Amino acid sequence: MNERPLAERVALVTGAAQGIGRAIACALGRAGATVAICDVVPEANEALAEVQSTSAYFRCDVTNISEAEATTKAVVERFGGLHILVNNAGIAIDGLLLRTKTEDWNRVLAVNLSGAFNCARAATKYLLKAKEQGRIINISSVVGEQGSAGQVAYAASKAGLLGVTKTLAQELAGRGVTVNAVSPGFIETKMTLEHVQGERREKLLAAIPLGRIGTPQDVANAVLFLCSDAAAYITGQVLRVNGGLYM
Ligand code: NAI
Repeated sequence: MNERPLAERVALVTGAAQGIGRAIACALGRAGATVAICDVVPEANEALAEVQSTSAYFRCDVTNISEAEATTKAVVERFGGLHILVNNAGIAIDGLLLRTKTEDWNRVLAVNLSGAFNCARAATKYLLKAKEQGRIINISSVVGEQGSAGQVAYAASKAGLLGVTKTLAQELAGRGVTVNAVSPGFIETKMTLEHVQGERREKLLAAIPLGRIGTPQDVANAVLFLCSDAAAYITGQVLRVNGGLYM
């Protein structure tokens, strides 16, 4: 078995300083890829130390199209190409409809949906050169598929990502580039610790057939598969990593 199936491939992972993005960056790095860790935080030393490859940190706010373009260009100049884009950067600002401020709606859409659009548009000319090795993976959410009271902006952004995924899959298929979404359920990260606590957490746990909250590694495993040659004939799909929460 090839221990480094992604050797000589370059991956850009957004929101990779912590949580799911960091686990994805590590998984791709362990599989041999050179990883560009992108995030909005000033530094990502812990993530960098963890990713075992010739990785580097690029500070990039995905909501800013100029930064997305400059970052993808810098990654290509430094590493010689770009094969994989993982649109993982995301935020949640919760609130029932009548309490959702327009600025919160705009912010969530800007990071989760426009951020993915910005990075995909910036990266596509390079991904097309990667041909059959080209991959875009968008991190959606069970909330985008099912809805969730109190999360209108988040749900809209994550549902929107599925439309982006299927459309780009159609547009890029002719050049062999695949575009898929991974839709996690409830995963143990800072985001869930902040937003899912107490009784809500217990209720959720009871609704998950596999009986546990997922780990960032569970999501990273799915992304790794979609990036591999074994997934070359899979495009426009939504791979659910949710312990059976939504089928
Ligand atoms: P997290 O909050 O731990 O990490 C998100 C990362 O995105 C942070 O490092 C943050 O600095 C970065 N980020 C935020 N705004 C950014 C911007 N404008 N530009 C670049 N980077 C930015 O969150 P977590 O849990 O690791 O989530 C990762 C992704 O997975 C998100 O898209 C989230 O919506 C999605 N997801 C998470 C689930 C969970 O249960 N934790 C479930 C389903 C989906």
